[in-house]
Amino acid sequence: MEITVINHPLAAARLSIMRDARSDTTTFRAALADLGAMLIYEASRGLEVESFECVTPVATAEGQRLAQPPIIVPVIRAGLGMIDPALSMIPDAQVGFIGLARDEVTHEPVPYLEALPQDLSGQPVFLVDPMLATGGSLVHSIRLLRERGADDITCICMVSARPGVAKLEALGGPLRLVTAAIDPELNDDAYIVPGLGDAGDRLYGPRNIDL
Ligand code: PRP
Ligand code: URA
Repeated sequence: MEITVINHPLAAARLSIMRDARSDTTTFRAALADLGAMLIYEASRGLEVESFECVTPVATAEGQRLAQPPIIVPVIRAGLGMIDPALSMIPDAQVGFIGLARDEVTHEPVPYLEALPQDLSGQPVFLVDPMLATGGSLVHSIRLLRERGADDITCICMVSARPGVAKLEALGGPLRLVTAAIDPELNDDAYIVPGLGDAGDRLYGPRNIDL
């Protein structure tokens, strides 16, 4: 697996705001949106472009545009906060959805929604979720995407934990991870340490899904 940890002062500053327990919802959301855009920018670096003739007010220039925009797939809920920054960078991207909630006892992902195109072969996929903890949610999501033929998947996470990264690596096959940090461990409740707490709750408040 190809791993990119973005190393930029502005990204580090936004991530620190997100980590800070004193940041309220408004502050947390704004920092997540900014960092989301930076991660999408970095993840897009290798996307294919095509040239076209671009007429400027003065002459003709070689224009460039994405040959095939990626589909953005947020893992609900926390991944929803990354849709707007992704679409601000790639306005013509499609969006698919995967709904998962971690069981608080087993820490296994429990699926509750899948809204994706049937055929994802040959299309770049940006799988976005702020948190990669045990890796269970992303492994489940990657399997779903691969069942639909996806062969060009980039996971975009804000905080990744070492055990989750190892789980993705063990999956095998072509895969990329773009993240702002790799934290060392998980606590007994499978929260990332030091992490930033529960990203979904910090964005949207406590959830109440009947698993
Ligand atoms: C969080 C997060 C990831 C998952 C990561 O979602 O957004 O999807 O946990 O944990 P894992 O790597 O151990 O699977 P959560 O299940 O808490 O749901 P929420 O976003 O609705 O709060
Ligand atoms: N999900 C979160 O939102 N935070 C963690 O630390 C682990 C999983």
